Amino acid sequence: MKDIAIESHQLTVHYDRKVVLHEVDVSIKAGRLTGIIGPNGAGKSTFIKSIMGVLPRTSGWIQVLGKPSHQVKKQIAYVPQRESVDWDFPVTVFDVVLMGTYPKMKWWQKVGVLERANAQKALEKVQLVDYANTPISDLSGGQQQRVFLARALAQNAHIYLLDEPFAGVDMASEQNIMQVLKGMRDAGKTVVVVHHDLYSAQHYFDDVILLNKRLIGAGESSVMLQPEYLSQAYGSSLTLLTQMAHEMSKK
Ligand SMILES: Nc1ncnc2c1ncn2[C@@H]1O[C@H](COP(=O)(O)OP(=O)(O)OP(=O)(O)O)[C@@H](O)[C@H]1O
Ligand SMILES: [Mg+2]
Repeated sequence: MKDIAIESHQLTVHYDRKVVLHEVDVSIKAGRLTGIIGPNGAGKSTFIKSIMGVLPRTSGWIQVLGKPSHQVKKQIAYVPQRESVDWDFPVTVFDVVLMGTYPKMKWWQKVGVLERANAQKALEKVQLVDYANTPISDLSGGQQQRVFLARALAQNAHIYLLDEPFAGVDMASEQNIMQVLKGMRDAGKTVVVVHHDLYSAQHYFDDVILLNKRLIGAGESSVMLQPEYLSQAYGSSLTLLTQMAHEMSKK
């Protein structure tokens, strides 16, 4: 279907002998902001990596824009979970963002004026122009996160996958990142975000996918963030759920 950007069918992934994702059937709509939510170890990062096609599947399939991921990889931009990046790598902010433009370039092309302008524009969006020549190792966590968002923006892809972009960032950075993501959605991009905070999720996302090794449910965020679904995803975290129910009843 044309309005489905990402679709998985019976997707099962193992690491060694451990099942991490089990028969996940999910459709992610194009042009929407979708949150992937679930407890630690639920397989959220694994699902994102499966969308990119970088993990071996045990069974099932996943398609992006109606094709296997490797055929459309230039159309997929990825912002990794922060801990998985080597921040001591000796490179400046501008260079990291400029790298975002590489997937679209042919091997014989040199980085030119257009690529540099795209990188500059992306830095403006995340409010980091003043840091263009700073080594990435000298940035705060929130700034580093925004550099990676800028790199994804410079790629000008159709699909944006972000793994916990708000981890360790302050409220101002979080709002800046969220504003950029909503702007991308409004421009017709498909944005998928792994997220932890249930309270903000209902304000941030159009749709939510609840994962805990299996698909618990997927749909509009106002429906999926109700206690009956959350309790299936989070199991015995009762205190949290009681709080959620309380918050919901105030709305
Ligand atoms: N490279 C790997 N080798 C072996 N096991 C792995 C590997 N990566 C992840 N796992 C395991 O797979 C499970 C799912 O991991 P994943 O990183 O997808 O979870 P997550 O939902 O993203 O968790 P978190 O909220 O902590 O980021 C975990 O139990 C994890 O220990
Ligand atoms: Mg993760």
